[in-house]
Amino acid sequence: METKILLSEKEIPTHWYNITPDLPEQLPPPIHPATGKPIGPEDLSPIFPMELIKQEVSTEKWIEIPDEIIDAYKIYRPTPLHRAYRLEKALKTNSRIYFKNESVSPAGSHKPNTAIAQAYYNMKEGVKRISTETGAGQWGSSIALACKIFGLQCTVYMVRVSYEQKPYRKILMQTWGAEVHPSPSNLTNSGRKILGENPDSPGSLGIAISEAVEDAATHENTKYSLGSVLNHVLLHQTVIGLETKKQLELAGEKPDVLIGCVGGGSNFAGLAFPFVSDKLKGKDIRIIAVEPTACPTLTKGVYTYDFGDTVGLTPLVKMYTLGHTFVPPGIHAGGLRYHGDAPQLCLLVKNKVIEAVAYPQKPVFESALLFARTEGIIPAPETSHAIKCAIDEARKNRGNCMVFNFSGHGHFDMAAYDNYLSGKLEDFEYSENMIKEAIEKIPKF
Ligand SMILES: Cc1ncc(COP(=O)(O)O)c(C=O)c1O
Repeated sequence: METKILLSEKEIPTHWYNITPDLPEQLPPPIHPATGKPIGPEDLSPIFPMELIKQEVSTEKWIEIPDEIIDAYKIYRPTPLHRAYRLEKALKTNSRIYFKNESVSPAGSHKPNTAIAQAYYNMKEGVKRISTETGAGQWGSSIALACKIFGLQCTVYMVRVSYEQKPYRKILMQTWGAEVHPSPSNLTNSGRKILGENPDSPGSLGIAISEAVEDAATHENTKYSLGSVLNHVLLHQTVIGLETKKQLELAGEKPDVLIGCVGGGSNFAGLAFPFVSDKLKGKDIRIIAVEPTACPTLTKGVYTYDFGDTVGLTPLVKMYTLGHTFVPPGIHAGGLRYHGDAPQLCLLVKNKVIEAVAYPQKPVFESALLFARTEGIIPAPETSHAIKCAIDEARKNRGNCMVFNFSGHGHFDMAAYDNYLSGKLEDFEYSENMIKEAIEKIPKF
């Protein structure tokens, strides 16, 4: 029995899978905050290159991957699908646990799958610099790498709590040539506004997005790049699920349960969406999205139009949201601290095609340790949410085939492991009041 199911470079997918035409209902359009009307491509063109805008609104089921992108993917793709025999043994489960190992990319996560694509299309359209935000630093390092591959400059606004918790991620980005600023910063009106209200703000992805969007909108030859949430980002990530399908076929398996952690939804969608189309055609697959209880967007948020950022610069999108002003506590899974989620994913949760669960960080780290001590690889705190769910599901002993997305390694998260091992890790109580207050600030439509 093989432990790793490997594909050759020739088997890297040649097309991304676009779920839009297969969704059970039409995706509500993004809305312009000033007019209250659906936005058009011209509204997005100041901050995104046209090819990505086309992908954002495309209803084509398959979108061809340019050769230059496939060449760059070859640095680390296809990624292995592992059978977690040692974890199975430790759990004494009769289920089969597989994980798709996206941690083998140079940045250590799934994020380069879209960073490479985004940098490529920006380069093709003559853009010179990309501005972006990063939570845990995984996205920032991925776009820094991708910008280097395609000869672009890169400016990253890094959520302050992560900037302080993860100095080595910052150095990684700088090593690949990016400029990194802690967010909120004094460099943008958005950052100055937040600092004026709270000089000690830990920052959030929503705030950092405001800063990066403002930077792109106010500078020539600069475009903005987002590491999650948008349709085109989820599209690029589908290489994960498409490869997994082939690998499961090679193993003679059909998945019963698919699991992924959710920050904005991209790694989850990347694994799950190519299987969602099978589920919509009648295949019996459970698909589970996992989030932190400290930021329970899918499990406790409301499904409504809200801003993607904190300050209110982005279009309004229909999604589960905790309110764009919600600043989640500084848990170690920095990449899961986002008030909203991808509209495509939210629509599928609303239609009950996808289930959602939330876990506090202590049991998540307990699962991370069990995984590290059985399978050997140290997971990112974000990824560990998926592992916790996979372990809980495996303990049910249903003889299932389960696959989770191993979205990233935790080599730069040693401070978090140190906190856990020395008993200092805290579980943050979900504050009903905080959420209620933030939900009241959602614009009414
Ligand atoms: C390793 C890892 N997994 C998951 C996520 C969550 O993002 P998404 O939901 O877009 O996959 C992040 C975000 O930074 C991450 O770094």
